[in-house]
Amino acid sequence: MYAIKFMTALSLVSLSFAAPVQYGSGSLQHRSDLDLQSRAFTGIEICELPARGDVQAGCLANPVRFTLANNALTAAPAGAQPANTECDHSLELQVLKQALNGNGACTALNKILDAGGIKTSATKEALLKPLFDAVNAQKNVVFLDKAVNAEKRLVVQHALGDGVKRPASTALTAVKAYLANTSIKSATTALATSLDSLASTMITNAANQANAALDAKAAKAATARQKSAITTGKTDVTAGKALFKPATGVSSSWTKVLTYAAGCP
Ligand SMILES: *[C@@H]1O[C@H](CO)[C@@H](O)[C@H](O)[C@H]1NC(C)=O
Repeated sequence: MYAIKFMTALSLVSLSFAAPVQYGSGSLQHRSDLDLQSRAFTGIEICELPARGDVQAGCLANPVRFTLANNALTAAPAGAQPANTECDHSLELQVLKQALNGNGACTALNKILDAGGIKTSATKEALLKPLFDAVNAQKNVVFLDKAVNAEKRLVVQHALGDGVKRPASTALTAVKAYLANTSIKSATTALATSLDSLASTMITNAANQANAALDAKAAKAATARQKSAITTGKTDVTAGKALFKPATGVSSSWTKVLTYAAGCP
């Protein structure tokens, strides 16, 4: 709480030193900043920001590991990383990405921050951080056999894409067992719900920050043109919020994945 207030105070301070104040042009100044960051990064991006955390430590700390033994998914004991495994996000980053694109969260976030003149990669990162932390948390990362993980990626792609069933295989059977495992299923389902609530909070916080920035500008607005730019900004913040449709999100995407997998041969 204190940290949030402190951050807001800081951003207000930096705003008041930003000279000259150019209403409506702040977003353009900051966009190249975001673009540069995007170009430098080759991994998965969510709302144009790198989303994959360093998950190796989480996988090592997680007592659960899944290997393939005698062609079947097998729970291996805790210890070093088993051979032929990868550190897998049980609920895939791809699922979070598609959900936030699908329900307008990323578009809404950009529009809100643009409207407030506060669209920098630092602001966006801070707002997205709770979501990235949750999806990269130890509870969501587990060592999984490489071939099974490769099949799992395809399962997710088809589940959220064309819906075409994957052909029967050892790897597919293992993916189905993995997703149906009680502990994986309950952890990922809970995470999906929590990510949806974090996304709603993110949009609310973004709108609050954008409105606070506009209020700070309003206090110093001298000309009619400046005042009108602030009114427009506030209208745009509201319009930005409306682009977010929280009814669809990670939970509905994840349910789709689980249902699709259960229906595969
Ligand atoms: C689910 O995975 C855990 C952890 O590896 C394992 O101990 C448990 O037996 C599995 N449960 C089922 C129903 O397969």
